[in-house]
Amino acid sequence: MLRSWSLQLTIAETSGLPVYLQIAQQIMEEIQKGRLAPSTAMPGTRELAEQLKVNRKTVILAYDELIAQGWLVTEQRRGSFVSANLPNFTAQPQASKTGHQPANVVEGPTHPLLNYQSPLNGVIDFNDGIPDSRLIPFNILSRAFRHALIGSSKGNNLGYGDPRGTLALRQSIATMLNMERGLSVDIDQICIARGSQMGIFLAARILTRPNDNVVVEQLSYPAAKEAFRSCGANILTVAQDKHGIDVTALEKLCKQHPIRAIYVTPHHQFPTTVIMTAERRLKLLMLAEQYDFTIVEDDYDHEFHFSYHPVFPLASTNHGGRVIYVGSLSKVLAPGLRVGYLVATPSLIGRCAQEVMLIDRQGNSITELAVAELMNAGEIKRHIRKTFKVYNERRNLLITLIKKELKEYVTFDAPDGGLAIWLRLKEGYEIETVAAKALAHKVRILPGTLFSESQQSVHAIRLGFGSLTTAELEKGVLGLKACFTQH
Ligand SMILES: Cc1ncc(COP(=O)(O)O)c(C=O)c1O
Repeated sequence: MLRSWSLQLTIAETSGLPVYLQIAQQIMEEIQKGRLAPSTAMPGTRELAEQLKVNRKTVILAYDELIAQGWLVTEQRRGSFVSANLPNFTAQPQASKTGHQPANVVEGPTHPLLNYQSPLNGVIDFNDGIPDSRLIPFNILSRAFRHALIGSSKGNNLGYGDPRGTLALRQSIATMLNMERGLSVDIDQICIARGSQMGIFLAARILTRPNDNVVVEQLSYPAAKEAFRSCGANILTVAQDKHGIDVTALEKLCKQHPIRAIYVTPHHQFPTTVIMTAERRLKLLMLAEQYDFTIVEDDYDHEFHFSYHPVFPLASTNHGGRVIYVGSLSKVLAPGLRVGYLVATPSLIGRCAQEVMLIDRQGNSITELAVAELMNAGEIKRHIRKTFKVYNERRNLLITLIKKELKEYVTFDAPDGGLAIWLRLKEGYEIETVAAKALAHKVRILPGTLFSESQQSVHAIRLGFGSLTTAELEKGVLGLKACFTQH
């Protein structure tokens, strides 16, 4: 039987213990550490004898000892196995020499959304607006991956490369941004990242010194706030309303504190989905100039804008290098591909490249080349057109369902874009109670409180619809209705 691993046993000449017992003892230890699980196939005696450079009879003796003690069993013509009757020892983390775990580990973010939760089986998950990765164009994508892999291997291009990303993808993204989003950038202004989250983290790393003030809206994207916080930033919040960030409140804040940066999602505000008005965009840019701060613009789901054409980003204006623009292909293709990008001045991109060298050296060039091929061939655009229709239908269905089933309990404004709807609970309904009841009805929702900096409950729900089919949406809304009717 072919094994992808080999047993790492050592024979000590000076041990005093017979060699066959040394082998038997080490195998017992491997089983107790959980590294050799019950039913694992053991190497053949000849193979192990060759590996350990001992006589085969010594290994047979060791195996016989282990069989006699019940650690191993033999099956005719199949070989020896770890006994299936043994308890499943869980793999122990390697303890330090003194037997203690290191005590000086720096604490990480404690936000509940940043602790990975496995998908719950059989639960309708109204997540924060993730796309449906079942829609991914896997045939053309796998073809592009194949081309990228073969081309790179033959061209000897699979070595260490540019930390800013492959030239081909930076070129394709520059072209797309210039043609479709009104930017005017070239390849030296682009750094490819593993998703927009890494783009935000890079921005945080290059902008923030300990105790710098970074502003976010009162309701904002937790992972972005925590990325800045992890770099030592002091997070300040400003109010927002249905037109986006309250620029008057921001101006007041600027007069009180030096501001280093502001993180915003102007196209589809996270989590409320509203679009920042042109007037506020201009005021924000003016304030950045006047008070000398950088705007980090996260345009995480630019493509899915349903009412009219997408609004051009802040980064498309003449901002004099004050805007760092972050984008992603997670919503267009799939989050698991991890392709995002950051757009800034060439010198800031140089700083990002230094950070990438410390984080993961560079991206996955095969993925980047495959995505570039699809962008250049117009396949990504075709795919966006296709998925746009699906998401638009799901959005319209969810709006209809909410109006029909939930109108007594919630209010909402149909979002112009994005893959989620922001529902506000009517007076008398507690979001935490509704969320707990929803789970009992096998529906998971994200309470608005999760996105807030304040301790007060936010009686609203960010209801993502992108990843749910028609049937799932219907079931999910009826599950939610049951939570309200039992109130
Ligand atoms: C507002 C916002 N920014 C950034 C991200 C990160 O996405 P990714 O890193 O997959 O591009 C998300 C993910 O949902 C998001 O909602």
